[in-house]
Amino acid sequence: MAVLLVVGGLRQAKEERGPGAVALPGMLDERAGDRLIGTAVDDGALQREPGYREVLARQFSTLTPENAMKWAVLEPERGRVEWGGADRLVAFAEEHDQEVRGHPLVWFGQLPGWVEALPEPEVQQVMREHIRQVVERYRGRVRTWDVVNEPFEDDGSRRRSIFQRGMGDGWVEDAFRTARTADPDAKLYLNEIGAEAPGPKSDALYALARDLRARGVPIDGVGFQGHFNLEGMPRGFRQNVERFAALGLDVAITEADVALEMPASEGELRAQAAVFRGVVEVCRAVPRCRSLTFWGFTDRHSWIPATQPGRGAATLLDEELRPKPAFRSVLRALGR
Ligand code: G3I
Repeated sequence: MAVLLVVGGLRQAKEERGPGAVALPGMLDERAGDRLIGTAVDDGALQREPGYREVLARQFSTLTPENAMKWAVLEPERGRVEWGGADRLVAFAEEHDQEVRGHPLVWFGQLPGWVEALPEPEVQQVMREHIRQVVERYRGRVRTWDVVNEPFEDDGSRRRSIFQRGMGDGWVEDAFRTARTADPDAKLYLNEIGAEAPGPKSDALYALARDLRARGVPIDGVGFQGHFNLEGMPRGFRQNVERFAALGLDVAITEADVALEMPASEGELRAQAAVFRGVVEVCRAVPRCRSLTFWGFTDRHSWIPATQPGRGAATLLDEELRPKPAFRSVLRALGR
């Protein structure tokens, strides 16, 4: 009985520490050229799983905190700021000579309750203070910020977020100007979900980006998240990205993943690999595509199963950190 308990204890400890890193058949990132390869980072795994950390350190040149810099995580109660996860991510990146993509400064999602409950006349001041506080803390250390995330509904109208209600359309411009003042050297991005295909949302995003550029608002780039499934990439993705680049903006793919119905068959894993290859090809085809970030690199830590029940397996490595067909096809598409 005693022996069994010990064995059980060992197994539990191993689970918490995650699988060890296995030898992967190549390097996604070779620190060559200026197109960065990145991943979202799960703070729990970063703290507890050595195998996860090893892959993270070796395979990527830019890191995005998956949740650690979201407002609800940073400041759950007004004035009580918890920098732990964000500091950890930035320190890890510095230790491994990686860039950080700060994400997101202003987003309707994962807001603390006290922000949602703000009287509208207070919103502008609180938004500005938040941006200043976060950007100044990491000034010179976080190279790129998703300043504004997901401002549009699918029909191209503005989302009725607390920022929109409190400040009207001008909140986007206000956020970019505030971020530029807080760190004049950071690259400032507008990031959107589901705007890969030409259509109402993408057109609204384009009109906004063009207007900001035309009026000298400090925006450096536009991010396309790239959450896909086996329907594949929408037609016209590359041309759509190109029209934003033609405005004189950098572009990036910021959250690529490809969700599968579970359990996934071998054929579906191969089909997934083809979708990932297409995503890489879009970024490689557009010279101003500065970075390609995956929304997690192992199925062990991916947002899909929790938010899309019945789906999963959306990343490049399986739950044991072993390469899936997608990993090899991304390597090939990158020319490795
Ligand atoms: O931190 C709490 C934890 O204390 C609690 O025990 C647990 C119980 O469910 O919840 C934890 O918070 C969860 C958090 O992820 C951390 O795991 C939230 O409930 C959950 O909603 C949150 O999901 C995140 C989601 O954004 C929220 O909208 C995903 O991890 C994250 O991948 C996802 O990322 C977004 C990008 O930021 C923007 N683009 C879309 C993308 C996917 O939704």
